[in-house]
Amino acid sequence: MNFIKVNTYEELSSRAAAIICGQVALKPKCVLGLATGSSPLGTYEKIAEKNRAGEIDFSKVKTINLDEYVGLSGDHEQSYRYFMNNNLFKHINIDIDNTYVPNGCATDIEAECKAYDSLIEDLGGIDLQLLGIGYDGHIGFNEPDTYFEKATHMVTLDSSTIEANSRFFASRNDVPVTAITMGMGGIMSAKRVLLIANGKGKRDIIEKAFFGPITPALPASILQLHPNLTVIYSEN
Ligand code: F6R
Repeated sequence: MNFIKVNTYEELSSRAAAIICGQVALKPKCVLGLATGSSPLGTYEKIAEKNRAGEIDFSKVKTINLDEYVGLSGDHEQSYRYFMNNNLFKHINIDIDNTYVPNGCATDIEAECKAYDSLIEDLGGIDLQLLGIGYDGHIGFNEPDTYFEKATHMVTLDSSTIEANSRFFASRNDVPVTAITMGMGGIMSAKRVLLIANGKGKRDIIEKAFFGPITPALPASILQLHPNLTVIYSEN
């Protein structure tokens, strides 16, 4: 594991953007696994800046996102499709048809999950997976459990996750209680994993996840077994 501690969110975002753009420069037709949440916002801004400056070309890149709320369509402001379109895709020269987010409004969620795993395979796997980490150690929406779930699946969100995500909704009751998430198989099969976290509040979970025992009770801990993992943490 390559553990990088930086002093500011700005530095975290610059480093993460440099790694992602480095991946695209190395393999212009690469597949990027992407995350939503507040952690990657700075990274996405930096990527867009580099793209605007003509430093990096996303025209051949494909992206696949980790998760989506069940019941929210892509035009719902709190859906992860909407988040990705507005915080990254519309600011870079990517072909929107090459961007994939699970369909939270699929009539058959189980079939949607299966199709998502087939899609990862059809794309030839993920070259670089970007992750954030929840206060309970979740990655994607893989919540603490008694086993690691391999396939893309539907989850019931933990109350701490609902609480944390309620800041984006009008009220806690508006937060969907279920979501589709890529499973540990998809995440662990990425050739490279980049996890970013910031804030004093994440220090404890970062320590436990990357320097403590590997356990499904703390889903991110499985990343210790990934052969190419970079963690960037800023306390501020
Ligand atoms: C989002 C996702 C989640 C977030 C996590 C941290 O696509 O997969 O696992 O990465 O909840 O969220 P923030 O960055 O808002 O602290």
